[in-house]
Amino acid sequence: MLLNSLLLLTSLLRPIAGCEDHDWTSPVLGGYVDHSMMRRHDLSKRIQPTALKTPAQQIKDLHWGQINFLHTTDTHGWLAGHLLDENYSADYGDFADFVQKMKAKADRLGVDLLLIDSGDLHDGTGFGDITKPNGKLTVPIFQRLPYDLLSIGNHELYTTPIANDTYHNFAPHWGGRYLTSNVEFNDTGVLKPFSQRYAYWETKQGIRIMSFAFIFNFTGNSNATVVTPVGTAVKQSWFQEQVKRTDIDMFLVAGHITLRGSTEWNLIYSAIREHHPTIPISIFGGHRHVRDSVIFDANAVGIASGRYCETVGWLSIDGLPSSVTRAKSPQGNNATKITAKPSAIPGVTPNNQSDLSYTRQYLDFNRFSFEHHTGTTEATFNTSLGTNITEKITSDIDSLPSLTTKLGCVPDSYYLSRYPITSNQSLFNYLTTVVFPKVVVDPKRTNMSRIVLTNTGGFRYDLLKGPFTIDNAYQTNPYQNYWLRMTAPWSVAKNLLANMQTDKVYKKRGEPATANGTTIVKTEGYVTHDDFGSDGDNVVHIDQGSAETPHYVQANVSVDGIGDDTLVDVYGTSFFTPAAGKYLTGNTSDWVSADGNFSSFDTLPRMAQQFWSKDC
Ligand SMILES: *[C@@H]1O[C@H](CO)[C@@H](O)[C@H](O)[C@H]1NC(C)=O
Ligand SMILES: *[C@@H]1O[C@H](CO)[C@@H](O)[C@H](O)[C@H]1NC(C)=O
Ligand SMILES: *[C@@H]1O[C@H](CO)[C@@H](O)[C@H](O)[C@H]1NC(C)=O
Ligand SMILES: *[C@@H]1O[C@H](CO)[C@@H](O)[C@H](O)[C@H]1NC(C)=O
Ligand SMILES: *[C@@H]1O[C@H](CO)[C@@H](O)[C@H](O)[C@H]1NC(C)=O
Ligand SMILES: *[C@@H]1O[C@H](CO)[C@@H](O)[C@H](O)[C@H]1NC(C)=O
Ligand SMILES: *[C@@H]1O[C@H](CO)[C@@H](O)[C@H](O)[C@H]1NC(C)=O
Ligand SMILES: *[C@@H]1O[C@H](CO)[C@@H](O)[C@H](O)[C@H]1NC(C)=O
Ligand SMILES: *[C@@H]1O[C@H](CO)[C@@H](O)[C@H](O)[C@H]1NC(C)=O
Ligand SMILES: *[C@@H]1O[C@H](CO)[C@@H](O)[C@H](O)[C@H]1NC(C)=O
Ligand SMILES: *[C@@H]1O[C@H](CO)[C@@H](O)[C@H](O)[C@H]1NC(C)=O
Ligand SMILES: *[C@@H]1O[C@H](CO)[C@@H](O)[C@H](O)[C@H]1NC(C)=O
Ligand SMILES: [Zn+2]
Repeated sequence: MLLNSLLLLTSLLRPIAGCEDHDWTSPVLGGYVDHSMMRRHDLSKRIQPTALKTPAQQIKDLHWGQINFLHTTDTHGWLAGHLLDENYSADYGDFADFVQKMKAKADRLGVDLLLIDSGDLHDGTGFGDITKPNGKLTVPIFQRLPYDLLSIGNHELYTTPIANDTYHNFAPHWGGRYLTSNVEFNDTGVLKPFSQRYAYWETKQGIRIMSFAFIFNFTGNSNATVVTPVGTAVKQSWFQEQVKRTDIDMFLVAGHITLRGSTEWNLIYSAIREHHPTIPISIFGGHRHVRDSVIFDANAVGIASGRYCETVGWLSIDGLPSSVTRAKSPQGNNATKITAKPSAIPGVTPNNQSDLSYTRQYLDFNRFSFEHHTGTTEATFNTSLGTNITEKITSDIDSLPSLTTKLGCVPDSYYLSRYPITSNQSLFNYLTTVVFPKVVVDPKRTNMSRIVLTNTGGFRYDLLKGPFTIDNAYQTNPYQNYWLRMTAPWSVAKNLLANMQTDKVYKKRGEPATANGTTIVKTEGYVTHDDFGSDGDNVVHIDQGSAETPHYVQANVSVDGIGDDTLVDVYGTSFFTPAAGKYLTGNTSDWVSADGNFSSFDTLPRMAQQFWSKDC
């Protein structure tokens, strides 16, 4: 999701026992695993203590190819998992054990398995955002995973402190696997590549890879960084030099770029195809927070793997010749051959013939799913690595009391986009009919007729029934835009919402790829329709639904029957009041602070403390 604004343990002694932990040595760049830790195997509580148990569901087995990929994107600090949603309740310790076991399985099968991330680690949970610097606790946890290729996201670039920390500490950690093909850092006055621009390497099974990682043409970055538009970057000499090489078997390109309908991906794809009409290209997109897969041509395929530790993407490829890889197809080269008409990308003659076959799946991020795919049970899944990470997450969270202090109990579940705003299960319906009338008001002006307007883009996640903490407040709306108030005649105030919906400056973003269709299934969740069809969701879900959300919503308080000349109070946040002001004319006041430093971020915590039960 493109956001236009920004916000401003204990180690325990345990018994040492043997275990068959697999060595995570990177296929290319050498080992980076703490082997002494890997030897320890302990039996202790896993996933976060308060997480809910996932119900048993129908899960499809994965098809393993000669080369396979696990993909995450837009994790936004959700490394503790979804404590109030049993469907996505695994944490990054569970994920670490899953990855470790999947890599071990790849070795047993004699195939490649690579782990890829497409950026946006920051902004989205209290766990990630409450610390200074932002991500102080979450970033080290993320770094424990054996990623083979990573790209930067826009949430690594909004503010100088985060960009600086990413440049100085995060990027170098990966030893050449964190790529920034179109970002530079202003390092005390000198522009330097943010990280390596490309990587050329060979997989365990001998596939010679050229990899790049781009971010979309982002312009909201801190002045400590420079983002080069993709179309410019692919014309630069370093890119041209690398792309022309003839010793490449496959291109892997990660990118914090919406997969579908993107000029940037088209430019990258065509810049490669210009020199290599048939070499396989595997693309790993993000940013849009959706599950999706796009066929560029018969051997150029892209996947996008959702958001917030809800989804792990899976991509498999078969049909590579023995001159390219030592891997044999463990389950036959009988997955999906691409027969669909390739995307029509200007200037490219797409390759329409290929021996390759593909599968893609979107795995739900929970223990049940991870155990299923690793052939383990609750008793055999845990290893010392994952347990250690899980315990670190628990102790880190416990070290920040405000993350676990219950402010109140959300009375019901209110969803961001599953229901239309007319439904009482819509978060925006709840905000405008219940929350804003109660808590967004100047305490000295509670008897005034008023409207309370908010942009919907600042809200990022559902408000789920159960305990509400500062962590949940960050998840729902992390932005500190102050509530302001002005007084205006009803004649203009009554048209404000309609005017703002079409306001040019804050124009609504494009729609996310919509899922459609339902099947006979057991649980609610994502139902994805992509270029491969409708069988991508690894757990077959009942469609949880998705509804259009207008760009703005509004609460109306005591406005029934008032005349055009009546002066009403108009509330909005500093994020958009400059735009709203131009529609408010006549006998108006200036924008003033509505209630001290009361901000969008503070709204739900105030509701929780003043109006919700403390008992849950
Ligand atoms: C986890 O591993 C680290 C590094 O090996 C070690 O220092 C730490 O004590 C371990 N933590 C727990 C909770 O076991
Ligand atoms: C493994 O982790 C699960 C999930 O947290 C936990 O409930 C269980 O006790 C652990 N099992 C073992 C055998 O350690
Ligand atoms: C940038 O990071 C470096 C290394 O962590 C630190 O020394 C420096 O103070 C930081 N600068 C800013 C402006 O945050
Ligand atoms: C880099 O930063 C210096 C100040 O440290 C500034 O003068 C210069 O204009 C910046 N360069 C770019 C390209 O932004
Ligand atoms: C970025 O802008 C800030 C505030 O305008 C200024 O103090 C700083 O020097 C600039 N930094 C760079 C690297 O240009
Ligand atoms: C990104 O920048 C390139 C120029 O380098 C331009 O051709 C392209 O249209 C831009 N894409 C978007 C989505 O703005
Ligand atoms: C693919 O081939 C394997 C073994 O040759 C077979 O077990 C499997 O059922 C086949 N799958 C499909 C989708 O045909
Ligand atoms: C495949 O591409 C070739 C060469 O561009 C073209 O002649 C042929 O018509 C294409 N076939 C299909 C089925 O699109
Ligand atoms: C929504 O309205 C229905 C019907 O009035 C009611 O049964 C339900 O409890 C309401 N749900 C919420 C979340 O308020
Ligand atoms: C609201 O109360 C203030 C004083 O408390 C009073 O001056 C004002 O007229 C009242 N406005 C309405 C609409 O009743
Ligand atoms: C739903 O998906 C089908 C393909 O299965 C497509 O033809 C149809 O246009 C889609 N409908 C909507 C409303 O998106
Ligand atoms: C998780 O799945 C269960 C089973 O379908 C469903 O009842 C529940 O609503 C889901 N939880 C959330 C928070 O969506
Ligand atoms: Zn994101």
